[in-house]
Amino acid sequence: MENNQEVYAMPRIGEKAPVFKAVTTQGEINFPADYSGSWVILFSHPADFTPVCTSEFMTFATMEKQFNQANCKLVGLSVDGLYSHIAWLRTIKEKIEYKGMKDVEVTFPLIEDITMEVAKKYGMMMPGESNTKAVRAVFVIDPQGIIRTIIYYPLSLGRNFDELYRVILALQTADEFKVATPADWRPGDDVIISPAGSCGTAKDRMDGKEDGLECKDWFFCTKKLDKDLVLGKILKK
Ligand code: BEZ
Repeated sequence: MENNQEVYAMPRIGEKAPVFKAVTTQGEINFPADYSGSWVILFSHPADFTPVCTSEFMTFATMEKQFNQANCKLVGLSVDGLYSHIAWLRTIKEKIEYKGMKDVEVTFPLIEDITMEVAKKYGMMMPGESNTKAVRAVFVIDPQGIIRTIIYYPLSLGRNFDELYRVILALQTADEFKVATPADWRPGDDVIISPAGSCGTAKDRMDGKEDGLECKDWFFCTKKLDKDLVLGKILKK
């Protein structure tokens, strides 16, 4: 304890995803072992039966196939119990219509975490924001179980799910093609190649001796990467 506030662990990018077993709306899961070979988005939401969370679940469920096509599975969590989760998801399907989405069935697992065991392990509890509700945390975990991206939003701010999809495509593009992706990158945009590692390479690049590169300066070179090539590698047929 520090200043009467519990200090919670914060997993970091590049580290193994903390291991846990949990009860979910789709049965028990063993995390991340059950997801080996897939990308996973593990995300928390503050509470069941709340409006922002409802809009998020409807959006995520509507986009689930799109994420699955990119070999990415979704796993949600809140510190509510299983029966609350079930009742909330049933209400969403039976009663809620929002922005043209209706009859939305959430088929990805939603973890019950009344004890906050998982939420605390993953740094989803932020007492300055709330002692009783998880913030909107997003952990992107790769097929080897390594945390690759972490994004946090406060209680009042719903996530941008197009951005989460872009993150999945960009991480896989970086791995597959050994490149980096610049600001606001989307498939089809130019990508960034590793900075020159020697004075000779820097000179060659500036002299235009490496084909297909466009160099703004010796440390900032881009190349074209075809959209169909990117999506052909990433998306399952
Ligand atoms: C919501 O999802 O609407 C919400 C949850 C907790 C605090 C504020 C809003």
